[in-house]
Amino acid sequence: MMSEKRSSFTGRIGFVLAAAGSAVGLGNIWRFPYLAAKYGGGIFLLVYLILAVTFGFALMIAEIALGRKTGLSTIGAYAKLDKRFGFIGILGAVIPAIILPYYSVIGGWVTKYLAIYLTGQGHGAAADGFFDTFIGKPVEPLIWFLVYIGLTAIVVMFGVEKGVEKVSKIMMPILVVLTLFIAVYTMFIPGAMDGVLYYITPDFSKFSVTTVLAAMGQLFYSMSLAMGIMITYGSYMKKEDDLERSVRHIELFDTGIAFLAGMMVIPGVFAFSGGDESALGQGPGLMFVTLPKVFDYIPGGGIIGFVFFLLVLFAALTSSISLMETIVSVIMDKFKLGRKVSCLIVFAFSVLLGIPSSLGNGIWKDITLFGMDFLTFFDFASNSVLMPIVAFFTCIFVGFVIKPQSLIDEVEISSPFKSKRLFAVIIKYVAPVCIILILVSSVLNGLNIISI
Ligand code: PHE
Repeated sequence: MMSEKRSSFTGRIGFVLAAAGSAVGLGNIWRFPYLAAKYGGGIFLLVYLILAVTFGFALMIAEIALGRKTGLSTIGAYAKLDKRFGFIGILGAVIPAIILPYYSVIGGWVTKYLAIYLTGQGHGAAADGFFDTFIGKPVEPLIWFLVYIGLTAIVVMFGVEKGVEKVSKIMMPILVVLTLFIAVYTMFIPGAMDGVLYYITPDFSKFSVTTVLAAMGQLFYSMSLAMGIMITYGSYMKKEDDLERSVRHIELFDTGIAFLAGMMVIPGVFAFSGGDESALGQGPGLMFVTLPKVFDYIPGGGIIGFVFFLLVLFAALTSSISLMETIVSVIMDKFKLGRKVSCLIVFAFSVLLGIPSSLGNGIWKDITLFGMDFLTFFDFASNSVLMPIVAFFTCIFVGFVIKPQSLIDEVEISSPFKSKRLFAVIIKYVAPVCIILILVSSVLNGLNIISI
């Protein structure tokens, strides 16, 4: 158990902002646009939105209520309510350890781009092939990865998250405004309107199981669900704070930023690829390839690029800090180690695991796991395999073991639970069935056993 006493957030706004700090990060700004571009634009957006207000809503309520009810974080929360289900907590705690290393590789790319704009080299970064050359290098991306994960570790080691959180509370609203500005500006670049249409009009012929799977994995990832993080946040929430409203606000914030990020990147792809739609399928590099071209086009884009990457760095840091903090607190509790030592262990482990994800874009390009490079593999294993498994067991646990009513009662301690029927039906029936179907097809698909 943690030795410090459990402090709680100062009021509902404090809670919403802290949870949103964990939720809003590279998932929204980097991952969402490239998935939306790849999986058919409007259809992906539509599926994502439907999942967010159903699955996402129910799962987030369940996790936060679980945390608030038990007053414990992941591992303890499940076990306290039923010993047999303690394994869900352990499984959930493994996921951040898989995500943190490769998250930090991407965080390193963001740091590199910040340095580029800081030194006024934005024009060079807009050149074709710049990004691929950079991530293909053996040493440089590794150094940026180390800088990024080092920054995260220092913050967690000295327990100064509060400082970062404070800064990021100011930065986040600015990020929203800047993203909106860039999105609107991009819309008026010749050719970009086609991208706007691609992004907001669903083309049902592009619908497939893979679209749903990608959207679901993205939902868990973006909202920091299915790995116990929201349970921990819930355990710090006050009994009198309106839980349902808080969840709606976190979702709105998270989805709003993801939507805007897509609005900024996807039309940019159309504007600069000369109608070559294959540019949409680029994958993880999409934002790093497209935005420098947009910034190069906008007058004063060098400064905008600098401010943008600075804000993204903060959004990413609040998320990686929450990832690292989760792993560190598990190690501190389990092995009775101090914060500094635990932090060093997590740092060392993450560096080791991050190296293949970084080199996999360059000198280790030819090494693949189930046909994927390392970064894609870790991303797939956490988002498309482990998280759906944890989400499935959480639904079974809440739906059939402790029963939805017990969490409905928890929510109603503070306020009436308006969508309680929807919540119960989703948690008990809709979510588990859909998750199993999607999980099986995804694993078969990911392992190239079948292709859908
Ligand atoms: N939700 C974060 C993002 O969108 C990533 C994250 C996942 C952070 C899990 C913490 C836990 O970037």
